[in-house]
Amino acid sequence: MTIEQHINKLRQELNLHNHKYYVENAPSISDYEYAQMLRQLQEIEELNPQYKDPNSPTMRVGSDLTNSFRTVRHNFPMLSLSNTYSLEELGEWIDKVEQEVAEAEYVCELKFDGTAISLCYENGHLLRAVTRGDGEMGDDVTENVRTIRSVPLVLQGDDYPSYFEIRGEIFMPYSSFDRLNQEREQQGEALFANPRNAAAGTLKQQQSQVVARRGLDCTLYQLAGKELPFSSHSESLKAARRWGFKVSSHMALCHSFEQIAQFISHWDEARHSLPFPTDGIVIKVNRYADRKTLGSTSKAPKWAVAYKFKAEQALTKLLKVSYQVGRTGAITPVANLEPVLLAGTTVKRATLHNADQIAALDLREGDMVYVEKGGEIIPKITGVELGERDASSTPLQYITHCPECGAELVRYEGEAKHYCPNQSHCRPQIIGRIIHFIRRKAMNIESLGEETVELLFENGLIGNIADLYDLRIEQIASLPRLGDKSARNILQSIASSREVAFNRVLFALGIRFVGETTAKYLAAHFGSMEAIMQASREELLEAEEVGGKIADSIIDYFADEQNREIIQRLQRAGLQFVAAKQEKASNALEGENIVISGSFEQYSRDELKALIEAHGGKNLAAVSANTTLLLAGAKIGPAKLQKAQKLGIRIISEQEFIQLIDGNVAIAEPEPEIESITPQQPIQGSLF
Ligand code: IVH
Repeated sequence: MTIEQHINKLRQELNLHNHKYYVENAPSISDYEYAQMLRQLQEIEELNPQYKDPNSPTMRVGSDLTNSFRTVRHNFPMLSLSNTYSLEELGEWIDKVEQEVAEAEYVCELKFDGTAISLCYENGHLLRAVTRGDGEMGDDVTENVRTIRSVPLVLQGDDYPSYFEIRGEIFMPYSSFDRLNQEREQQGEALFANPRNAAAGTLKQQQSQVVARRGLDCTLYQLAGKELPFSSHSESLKAARRWGFKVSSHMALCHSFEQIAQFISHWDEARHSLPFPTDGIVIKVNRYADRKTLGSTSKAPKWAVAYKFKAEQALTKLLKVSYQVGRTGAITPVANLEPVLLAGTTVKRATLHNADQIAALDLREGDMVYVEKGGEIIPKITGVELGERDASSTPLQYITHCPECGAELVRYEGEAKHYCPNQSHCRPQIIGRIIHFIRRKAMNIESLGEETVELLFENGLIGNIADLYDLRIEQIASLPRLGDKSARNILQSIASSREVAFNRVLFALGIRFVGETTAKYLAAHFGSMEAIMQASREELLEAEEVGGKIADSIIDYFADEQNREIIQRLQRAGLQFVAAKQEKASNALEGENIVISGSFEQYSRDELKALIEAHGGKNLAAVSANTTLLLAGAKIGPAKLQKAQKLGIRIISEQEFIQLIDGNVAIAEPEPEIESITPQQPIQGSLF
């Protein structure tokens, strides 16, 4: 076999396995085998740059080069859809269709809630991916789209047109969305309001390697091209599926209004259990000949329509806007509403996020407002019924001073929220910090409870976290509702917290942006409170996952005299200020810097981490040039594997790891198959 043939063979096999994993949800080889194959391809490609190909599976990891998005003209305009909001309106559309078309066939599909994309393929290779833009021109986002694993870079079979475009939706599954927002919260970055914004924002990222990590997905729902070799939409989608595209299986071919209505009513409920967001149903005339008869306006085809699910909405009165002060001093405006029933629960309050949002809605107390429960859990106000506004109402003035302590509020650059800067004397901030400190994941003094913290505070017994360690039994026992026994329990759990590991002490301090994970990295990197307090900004930045924002926040925290005094008192109280050394079990992993990724069968990840340390190895959070071993479990992200391969890092399985630390463990059972997607309930009309 020539080198070129070898490369082609590997690419073909990898594309096939990728398709099985990301499109069919039915992997045919282990992640480890996939990684090995990819690594082999990577090595050969590096040695033979003349065979470089932007559509090679090795290109899926993206790059750190800055993207500039060229504007390009669509070969076939990307129209939008007319919306209907009721079955009645939908019925009118069907009547119109049936006036012109005999025995019309309809395809019902989910309306995916993401961002539209047009993919162009030439001779079976992805040529370009363009956003909708204004429908005529869009942005070329090919580099970013290449990293989306469910988008085929090279097609399967040989019966695709030499050039065609296929349209679909790039969306963010809830799991990726939740993970992304969690990460952003930990880093103190603004959160995405919903998966649609997150998908659109991600697609415009300037570095494709960032896109590669965010877990976007892509489903295709419309073929475009000159003289497509099909006579209907359903045929074209079946072919697209054969060529390797991800085409939803939640579709039905319908022949009547009743069948369509049944499909809608099924999905209006069932969509709540889908792992990705949808906002309606799209109904399309199936036969191309009928589409031609019906035609299009300049904006939207007459042969398709969207039925939008009703966002659960209610109209109610905005009684008052109040303001909450969080533990960090962040101010959150809250709408207090006349109680109203919405999606099965009575809503009395809705979040207003920040001053900008109030201004954008021109919200006034006394207004009748629309409250919605969308994909978000907390209800939000989406609009004002201006027709019902009282003529004497005046725009809402956002507060300038803290509603709790009266301090003048500040607004930091780049932040949407206002803050109360009076950290040491503002009640909710003080109590909030103490409550954070006693949380289970922090010092685990939960027997104390929020109410007791408030009680102790009101009675002047505690004013900060260090005061907890000076409490005496008679002080607590004399408080209302607390007797000798509970006082004893409380003191007991406060005393036990002296054993809580250093990383949790660090987390418990409540330093802004220092979440649980960051605290672990900091503790592991510096080893002691003293080392962290003395670290310069540059030194802090060397710790895993610590960026400028976190480093600055740590420096600010320890620069504060009162904080330093609290730290001193906590140290005197006997809290763990040094990271504990693990008992050494062996030196088998001496000198190894190990990254764990994926899921494992015999040990949890925490157990594996402890084992690594006990055997003299070091845990690293992310694959870097320092990494010597990647311990790869099932479902490990291909990006991580690829990076490890690029750096020539040794990759081992859980079994190999166990053998490394203690040579004689039996080989594990083969991995269980990934659960297959539950087949959809048949809806009237044949599914395809
Ligand atoms: S067909 C000319 N099918 O909805 C027909 N669109 O509101 C073009 N969308 O821009 C679109 N799911 O981004 C079609 N199954 C589906 C869809 C879908 C979501 C989006 C698409 C379009 C928007 C129109």
